[in-house]
Amino acid sequence: MSAPWDGGPVAITIDRSQPTPITVQITNMLRAAIVEGRLRPGTRLPSWLDMAAQLGVSRGTVKAAYETLADELLVYSAGAAGTRVAERAPPRPTAVKRVVIRRPLESLERGFSVKPLPFQMGVPAQDAFPHKLWARLRARAVRANAMAPVGPPDPRGEPELRAQVAAQLAITRGICCHPDQIILTSGYRNGLSLTLLALGVQGRTAWVEDPGYPVTRMALDLAGLKAVPIPVDAKGIRVDHGIRAAPDAALAIVTPGQQAPTGVTLSPERRRALLAWAAREDAWIVEDDYLSELQLGGRAAPAMAADDPAGRVIHIGTFGKTISPSLGLGFVVAPLGLAERFGEIAGCLNPAPNVTTQLALADFLADGHFLRHLRHMKALYRQRRDDLHARLDPSIAVDAFAGLAIVAHLPRGFDDVALAQRAPNLGIAPCPLSVWHADPAVARPGLLLCVTNVRPQLLDKACNALATLIDDPAAAHTPARAA
Ligand SMILES: Cc1ncc(COP(=O)(O)O)c(C=O)c1O
Repeated sequence: MSAPWDGGPVAITIDRSQPTPITVQITNMLRAAIVEGRLRPGTRLPSWLDMAAQLGVSRGTVKAAYETLADELLVYSAGAAGTRVAERAPPRPTAVKRVVIRRPLESLERGFSVKPLPFQMGVPAQDAFPHKLWARLRARAVRANAMAPVGPPDPRGEPELRAQVAAQLAITRGICCHPDQIILTSGYRNGLSLTLLALGVQGRTAWVEDPGYPVTRMALDLAGLKAVPIPVDAKGIRVDHGIRAAPDAALAIVTPGQQAPTGVTLSPERRRALLAWAAREDAWIVEDDYLSELQLGGRAAPAMAADDPAGRVIHIGTFGKTISPSLGLGFVVAPLGLAERFGEIAGCLNPAPNVTTQLALADFLADGHFLRHLRHMKALYRQRRDDLHARLDPSIAVDAFAGLAIVAHLPRGFDDVALAQRAPNLGIAPCPLSVWHADPAVARPGLLLCVTNVRPQLLDKACNALATLIDDPAAAHTPARAA
């Protein structure tokens, strides 16, 4: 240890055995003295030279410490009068109070940025993600972007990507649109937020599917709209029911391609009825196309926006399922008549996300990787679904294949939410079905078993864990919320 510096009320001691660099040690000691008031405002610090000599360190080491303190506005250089403690030190962050702040979507998600478990919804086959290719495209995009002249980016998203998305939509979803009708977003939820803002529907009513995506119901509530649950049957949303329940709704939010969570495709008659209602009532149809062309049962039905002569459909797409939620990219296709309004809203309230990710995705699409990846994923997920179905315990009542999941019903009296809460202890994360219903108390309990990340080597273990979970006597005896 070197000799202490006696700066009046401050003793600085350097400990060379510590891993903390000497500059940082000096900075920390002076900072503490200033913040605690031991070095008073206006006090002159020793010159770099004097301090360095006294502490037995180099002049540069002391200079760097003083500069850090000056950057933190704790000291200032007074020219020939040396370095002095600033008059009023900026407030320092005090210790964070011990409060519990609940994370968002606590009732729906088991956590964020945690390793996904078998059966977990909303995660892709991580093992089939083209990591190397994506890393290469990202690196290229970062380089290109770093060298490009900097102007404000288009808030609707990079023109290259919007042109590519328009081209892909024509092939995969039958949508014929101008690239300027496309606004890039961070995914479905961001697209919904943009849409609600652009439509100016706060305080109005919206039809939602029942059962349906719980986040949509919560989103409407948070955005100041009233969600009216409309039942879904084997042909999709009951449009006749919607017309009776809320004829003057401002919009209907639907998953026509593959209804979430039942997987049914909205029938052609219902599509026509929904479009006719919207045209008649001046209402909007928000198409949540979360799975895009990922239809495991064959070719996906065209999007509703593909046949929308009256321009009432706002199509929301996401790359969260087709590629990965980690991209954080999706898009909205605005009807022609609303394209400028959506652009203005993006410009003022909802600009497109990270440019380099957009540029990498534009290359991924342009070079044909996207369609190849989709084809590969469809085959892989179909195989995983069939393997899982074949291996499931016979006591599990499979109700349907729906989207990327298998729907398993549980006997009445089972509490699917409690089961799902216990499941991660067994290394699996099925999703309770009842939370997809507007009134979970009357819903039949069940589990959604997403097939995407059930790799062959995990299959047996995951299925055994599921059987253990359901066979547990506590499962059947949990106080039933079901009728
Ligand atoms: C029906 C439905 N829509 C939208 C989404 C979410 O999309 P994003 O993550 O892009 O917001 C999901 C995710 O699971 C979903 O199930």
